[in-house]
Amino acid sequence: MHVIVTGGSSGIGLEVARLYVRNGASVSIIARDERRLLAACRDLEASAAGAAGRVGSATADVGVEHDISAAIAVRESEFGACDILVASAGVVEPAPFDGQDAAMFAAQIETNLFGTINSVRAVYSGMKERRSGTVMIISSGAALIGIHGYSAYCASKSALIGFAEALRMEAMPVGVGISLCFPPDTLTPQFEQELPKRSPQARRLMGAAPAWRADAVAAKIVRAIERRRAKTYFGFSLTALGWFGPLIKPVLFWWSARTPAR
Ligand SMILES: NC(=O)c1ccc[n+]([C@@H]2O[C@H](COP(=O)([O-])OP(=O)(O)OC[C@H]3O[C@@H](n4cnc5c(N)ncnc54)[C@H](OP(=O)(O)O)[C@@H]3O)[C@@H](O)[C@H]2O)c1
Repeated sequence: MHVIVTGGSSGIGLEVARLYVRNGASVSIIARDERRLLAACRDLEASAAGAAGRVGSATADVGVEHDISAAIAVRESEFGACDILVASAGVVEPAPFDGQDAAMFAAQIETNLFGTINSVRAVYSGMKERRSGTVMIISSGAALIGIHGYSAYCASKSALIGFAEALRMEAMPVGVGISLCFPPDTLTPQFEQELPKRSPQARRLMGAAPAWRADAVAAKIVRAIERRRAKTYFGFSLTALGWFGPLIKPVLFWWSARTPAR
């Protein structure tokens, strides 16, 4: 089995890759920084601990279509056709809308939305031809509700819902699984750089729930892939938002508008 993980050099993607390597899969990780990729490969090989899993990598910017399609082609030529794609590459830069220049806004849309679409495009035709394969798109809890200071990130991650739901309609009859998950705050390098930039309003809305461990999030993602779950939520609050958002969100927005941020 060949599993390709974009953003596999760090955080959630790295932990998903680790679980598959330990299960004996051939795993390809893709990201931009070659040095970090090679360090992640060594880390994954060490944690394979005798399992038959293989690890390979390729550098690519998922936001550049020919870059990611070439990287995936290289990985498929070594490990065979992609059976599972986990699209985890993503970035976040919290800032008020009018305090964020257009380039910073666009970078989040390009990586999180177009980067995911480019990655899926690179594997989808092959999966469709073979009538098998699964794509797991890593969205975010921030796709389920607008958050102060996250206009670009929320836009990029909620757009993935429309993309995944529509593609699922096309993919299901031809045997390809399209899954989407909405991770909560998770202890990763991205979270560490994001947290100090979070506004008091965002902190209040997101509550005091402790961040999840990346390996726990990864384990739930791998289970969701096995079960071909359409959507996967994490924890009580995000699950409630996922299922009952239209009922809960007006109350949250009302409360948010009336409670001064500290
Ligand atoms: N951590 C959280 O609290 C949280 C919560 C909800 C959702 N998520 C989502 O989960 C996913 C993983 O996040 P994480 O927290 O694990 O982040 P992370 O530790 O910062 O890892 C991000 C990975 O994506 C790669 N990447 C970023 N931009 C890329 C690009 N343009 N092209 C190719 N690779 C790129 C990074 O490598 P390079 O920089 O070397 O390219 C790295 O491997 C993201 O989509 C994120 O939005 C995270």
